[in-house]
Amino acid sequence: MQVPKGLEGVIVASTQLTKIDGQAGRLVYRGYDATELAGKIPYEAVAYLLWFGQLPTNGQLLTLQGQLGNNRKLPQVVDEFLVEPSKVAEPLSLLQTSVSILGGLDSTKTASIVDASIALTARMPTIVASSYRLKHNQNLLEPRPDLGHAANYLYMLTGKVPDPRHARALDSYFTLLADHGLGASTFVARVAASTLTDVYSAVVAAISALKGPLHGGAPIYVWEMLQSIGEPERARAWLNERLAKGDRIMGFGHRVYRTEDPRSRVLKRIAQEIVSPELFNLASTVEREARDLLRKEHPERAIDTNVEFYSSLVLHAVGIPPDLFTCTFASARSVGWTAHIMEQRQDNRLFRPEAEYRGQQDLKLPETQKTETVAQQANALGRSRA
Ligand code: ACO
Repeated sequence: MQVPKGLEGVIVASTQLTKIDGQAGRLVYRGYDATELAGKIPYEAVAYLLWFGQLPTNGQLLTLQGQLGNNRKLPQVVDEFLVEPSKVAEPLSLLQTSVSILGGLDSTKTASIVDASIALTARMPTIVASSYRLKHNQNLLEPRPDLGHAANYLYMLTGKVPDPRHARALDSYFTLLADHGLGASTFVARVAASTLTDVYSAVVAAISALKGPLHGGAPIYVWEMLQSIGEPERARAWLNERLAKGDRIMGFGHRVYRTEDPRSRVLKRIAQEIVSPELFNLASTVEREARDLLRKEHPERAIDTNVEFYSSLVLHAVGIPPDLFTCTFASARSVGWTAHIMEQRQDNRLFRPEAEYRGQQDLKLPETQKTETVAQQANALGRSRA
């Protein structure tokens, strides 16, 4: 039996949510090209599309925006929980634990999956912004129901109504990151949901998987790489040195795409509009040099920029600090995770694959380990302690 490492190419679920064409570099949400949706309809409309299967009418969009707006405020117990840990704990752990507390508060689990999904999506940015403000000794802000999802997140972080260009850029980022098939975190969410656990617990599991640098933990490393390279002229030597050590270049490569990640294409365009020309020049030089070096090192597979490379520029430009990059990714992906949880539960069967056993067999228990001997040893130990 051949076990595909990392389940590459294995189909483990059917979905009507997202189609990824890795050869053509195409990402489709319920029939619509995601790169066409970004910036043309608000993230809330994309959430409606993924959750309910079709684009909303104006009335349906207004209703959902109202529900999201009304759910942004955190229960007092979560605000109180965040006060001390915010000073010392990393932001993603705070987000994960706060989501867990939100689930714990709904102890009767009466909320429908849809209600819980709306509440989670509305509250995750508030958790991130509140923990950031507490860490920096700033007062907590009331959410602004008159602002869109992305604009309100920026407002709650900074206390200022954002520049509309920044709000639009972040809204597009949220749309592009809303869902992506069975990435590790979404797969984990579906596995957890298949046990009939609650939505919050499945999302906590998903956040754990997102955290790793091979998945959603990458953008902070992309940012640090750009800072460390500093000047475009240093890019090739820096990258060469890292590759010679066997390091991976963050923001490059993808399990599914064998060409440029389509989200990267759009984020690059957005970045060009909102970052400084110097920073954009540095990033595009690093992109060019890394692509060239990776092509030479791996002629058998195209290793191109993934979503994380230009995400780091866009998030930085709109005012999100690097230690909140992965939390912001999680806040955008809450829609995809919960849409997959809903889909899993519509036609559920417990996930329970098998592992190919390669360990030893037919070993015999040594005489010294047999129960009687162990019991005698325990008695002897008891006597010596008495
Ligand atoms: N830099 C250097 N080498 C790489 C990179 C990279 N970014 N990506 C893949 N490779 C190489 C590997 O070293 C490996 O080489 P080997 O066969 O000589 O050992 C080969 O390509 C295949 O690597 P796999 O890990 O098997 O490829 P996979 O398709 O599973 O990788 C992954 C996908 C994990 C994202 C990988 O490209 C990577 O580690 N990238 C850097 C981290 C990153 O940017 N993560 C964010 C991903 S996007 C997201 O999750 C939202």
